Amino acid sequence: MLNKTILITGGCRSGKSRQALSIADKFSGRKVFLATAEPLDAEMKERIARHQQERGKDWITQEEPLDPVVVLKEEGKQAAVIVMDCLTLWVSNMMMKNMERSAILDKLETLIDACVRTHCTVILITNEVGAGIVPGNELSRNFRDIAGDANQKVASRFDQVVHMVSGIPVTIKSASNDAFEKLHDESAHEFSPQKKQGLYEAIYKRRDIRHFNSSPIDPTVLGRVLDAAHHAGSVGFMQPWNFLVINDQKLKEKVAYNFKEASATAAVQLSKDRQQLYKSLKLEGILDSPINICVTCDSTRFGPNVLGRDTIKETDLFSTCCAIQNLWLAARAEGLAVGWVSILSQEQLKKDLEIPGHVFPVAYLCLGHTDEFYKKPMLESAGWANRTPLEKLIYYNTWKGNPQGFSVQIPTQS
Ligand SMILES: Cc1cc2nc3c(=O)[nH]c(=O)nc-3n(C[C@H](O)[C@H](O)[C@H](O)COP(=O)(O)O)c2cc1C
Repeated sequence: MLNKTILITGGCRSGKSRQALSIADKFSGRKVFLATAEPLDAEMKERIARHQQERGKDWITQEEPLDPVVVLKEEGKQAAVIVMDCLTLWVSNMMMKNMERSAILDKLETLIDACVRTHCTVILITNEVGAGIVPGNELSRNFRDIAGDANQKVASRFDQVVHMVSGIPVTIKSASNDAFEKLHDESAHEFSPQKKQGLYEAIYKRRDIRHFNSSPIDPTVLGRVLDAAHHAGSVGFMQPWNFLVINDQKLKEKVAYNFKEASATAAVQLSKDRQQLYKSLKLEGILDSPINICVTCDSTRFGPNVLGRDTIKETDLFSTCCAIQNLWLAARAEGLAVGWVSILSQEQLKKDLEIPGHVFPVAYLCLGHTDEFYKKPMLESAGWANRTPLEKLIYYNTWKGNPQGFSVQIPTQS
């Protein structure tokens, strides 16, 4: 798998630019060199001219010392690859304009978002400036610190990080499927604090999303997300799920029509004041999202007697919901938005998707990229419902029982 966002770091003259160009040269199509350098003196002019010559004729050079995001957004629509050279010069350009550290780091977040969201591959070059002795003046020390922080932020969100040492590329981070295979092999009993935090972050930052932009979904990413779903627990290990991956526009239009009808029926059952609020809510993104997925449950899988299901028949449906939650969390970790649409006639959905009678469509999901993961559930922001305090939902020993010698410590952010 080719990584979409690549950070190339290293010391001065370590071969960073050459490495970036040799990766980019493998692309066919528009190649953009986004230069943040300003030719302020003769030495810089000479350096820029030399680099331009090295790149050859099939490159387009865009010079943007302060606002590379504008170029990324514009060129990202048509380019196959953009090489930005370099992050540290961009930071120093902003410092020279007397921008505060916080403003620089805000700009950096916007840059990272643009790199991650753009359609094309982005290769960002940076410098390791923190390895030498402590600089003698405050401005230089500030520059070293901001550059270090900037490198860390980019490295944490980019797919791949390559450290150039004496012309040799050393991959220090890779989100390729190889890394995921290694993940499956890991037998460590304890999760590291970072891994724990990552999991909780996916849980707390997961949202049901109904607003999508037009960015396509990377099939490799979708593969990982569905594989995460497929690793959910299931009663008797029956794995009752199937995933219908829908990108057919006509089919999506049929489902969107189904939603419209079902939503109108649901609305009339509400009180008059709730009806108004209900109608103002966006409750699906069927046509806006590039991919829809219907997750189904086949109760007949493994025959009539499934270990653990004989007593509670619905456990196959519960298992499918576990898979859906895995999908939702993995998608969030990948930066993919998911919206669950249940305001649908199941009968009609089964007909449109040609689902056999014994198979139950559990969830109809919209998947795509979004400009914003809502900070809170959209229904909370819209005044429809609030999160119930967790302490009200925990009983001890018996229904509505009080603590007896043991009580749960609820985290403050909950
Ligand atoms: C089983 C199920 C069905 C849902 N159906 C819909 C739906 O039809 N339309 C919608 O806008 N949201 C739907 N949602 C999303 C919920 O509204 C959402 O999960 C809830 O408001 C909490 O927000 P959050 O997911 O962002 O935390 C559904 C969620 C679940 C779990």
